Amino acid sequence: MTGRPRVDIESVFRLTELADYIIPFTIRAVCDLGVADHLTEGPRTVEDLAAATGSHAPSLHRALRALASKGIFTETAPGLFDLTPRAQPLRSDHPVSLRDAYPLLIPDVEAWARFDHSIRTGEAAFDQVYGEDYWSYMAANPEDSAAFDASQQAATRLELRTSLPAYDWKAFKTLVDVGGGNGAFLGGILARFPSLHGTIFDLPHVVTGAPKRLAEYGVTERCACVGGSFLTDPVPAGADAYLLKRILYGWDDERAVVLLRAVATAMRPDSRLLILEPVVRPGNHFDVGKLYDLLLLCMVGGGARTEEHICELLERAGLRLERTVPTMMFPILEVVRCA
Ligand SMILES: C[S@@+](CC[C@H](N)C(=O)[O-])C[C@H]1O[C@@H](n2cnc3c(N)ncnc32)[C@H](O)[C@@H]1O
Repeated sequence: MTGRPRVDIESVFRLTELADYIIPFTIRAVCDLGVADHLTEGPRTVEDLAAATGSHAPSLHRALRALASKGIFTETAPGLFDLTPRAQPLRSDHPVSLRDAYPLLIPDVEAWARFDHSIRTGEAAFDQVYGEDYWSYMAANPEDSAAFDASQQAATRLELRTSLPAYDWKAFKTLVDVGGGNGAFLGGILARFPSLHGTIFDLPHVVTGAPKRLAEYGVTERCACVGGSFLTDPVPAGADAYLLKRILYGWDDERAVVLLRAVATAMRPDSRLLILEPVVRPGNHFDVGKLYDLLLLCMVGGGARTEEHICELLERAGLRLERTVPTMMFPILEVVRCA
């Protein structure tokens, strides 16, 4: 007997939910408006929130009720909204505030719109759309660059919480944060360990933002800022430890080896290199590393790697993995120079 083929309708619904980008864009718009900051004292009407954020009340209502359906904000009475645990990190004053973590960067969105190019070719969609690489674009666009740095800083607050207790940072006297951005991570480590001295090494237009951040942490005296490229310039030499936090995965294998060699050259025989980034676990289970992997492919043509793949690159640079230290987020790979 023929009939209509059986359809697993639940799976169809689940797929439509996963394929949708409405919620991610709405979260970002609401972050940009700073809605959560106006709910710290308790629930408020949508009219109040609209006045406080310069929004159109009926449209804000539509955005908030959609987010409330996902547990982000809650409508406690018609037109009255409050924070939920999931909405709390969207406040600017939250200890691990994610408000700046989700900027709506037009160049990012345009690159995602051509992600098929990355899958077809293995190249960054960003380069295809903009005709230049991500970092060159950022160097020429200070507003987007500042928004990008702020997003990294937001992620860094979370990483400071998860990686500081997991590793014995005070074993070192000197630490170079290679590609350390505006110093948000190193500043946090130096503030916690007063005997530690540090150096931020990043592109010249990026390190100019570091002194302000280091001053906020009160660690200016103990931190140098050096501008340069780890692909072409020497990395500051002779420190006890080197950090590559969310750097390696931004580069294809060839350039990853160039940068690892630059760090290996700067290391003393007893220095440690700490690689802190998502490491992909093979298999079907969910792993945030698999998402970062695609983000990196789309924007810069890099990608998160398995531990085995990282070890191959280390070997090519005269380095070897000594041990892997788990944290609540990404693992810390502790690396030494080969004898
Ligand atoms: C994904 S961000 C990570 C920043 C920081 N380590 C963190 O975890 O927040 C990558 C960093 O690499 C820096 N970078 C890119 N190309 C570089 C190069 N050729 N030499 C030095 N730094 C570079 C960028 O400016 C940016 O700060």
